[in-house]
Amino acid sequence: MRAHAPKDPSAWLVEHRELLAVQPAGRALDVACGRGRNALELARMGFRVDAVDCDRDALAEVAGRAAAEGLAVQAIERDLEREPNLPQPPYRVIVNINFLQRTLVGPLVAALAPGGLLLFETFTRACTRPMRPGYLLEPNELLRAFADLTVLRYREGPVAGLVARRD
Ligand SMILES: C[S@@+](CC[C@H](N)C(=O)[O-])C[C@H]1O[C@@H](n2cnc3c(N)ncnc32)[C@H](O)[C@@H]1O
Repeated sequence: MRAHAPKDPSAWLVEHRELLAVQPAGRALDVACGRGRNALELARMGFRVDAVDCDRDALAEVAGRAAAEGLAVQAIERDLEREPNLPQPPYRVIVNINFLQRTLVGPLVAALAPGGLLLFETFTRACTRPMRPGYLLEPNELLRAFADLTVLRYREGPVAGLVARRD
């Protein structure tokens, strides 16, 4: 995890705040949460958040920031490649930002509560960052991967973003 990782919540999450605001209260999941910018924001919105990552130092920061703000965030250390089961489904909201693990597609869909929302955004093959090709989305990949969900918003360029609901 980079020391200069952004602290502001992802613009994709902020842009869809109104969809999150009408979700019933409940649990949310931040997949590969890093230093927790999105987990903390979800908790500020009133969700009880499971923040999962394999980086112990980043999780310590998440837990410290959550405690300082009095937020309901549980920092959970897990290597999702080895252990792709998600901590405490069902979730009202799942956020997956700047992280791509294709074996999680099925578990993410299964972990959503009926009516629950998935917010997914990460880099595509059109991005110019030096990244391993395997971590970049193919054209329309998110649409294909989450075809079992109802897509509410989709955008694709150097990053692809999807908001989808489990009906
Ligand atoms: C680019 S950061 C994104 C962090 C956060 N989602 C954000 O948007 O700020 C990618 C994160 O994925 C985590 N990660 C990478 N491989 C992982 C794995 N196998 N299991 C859990 N977390 C992983 C890293 O530790 C890192 O925090």
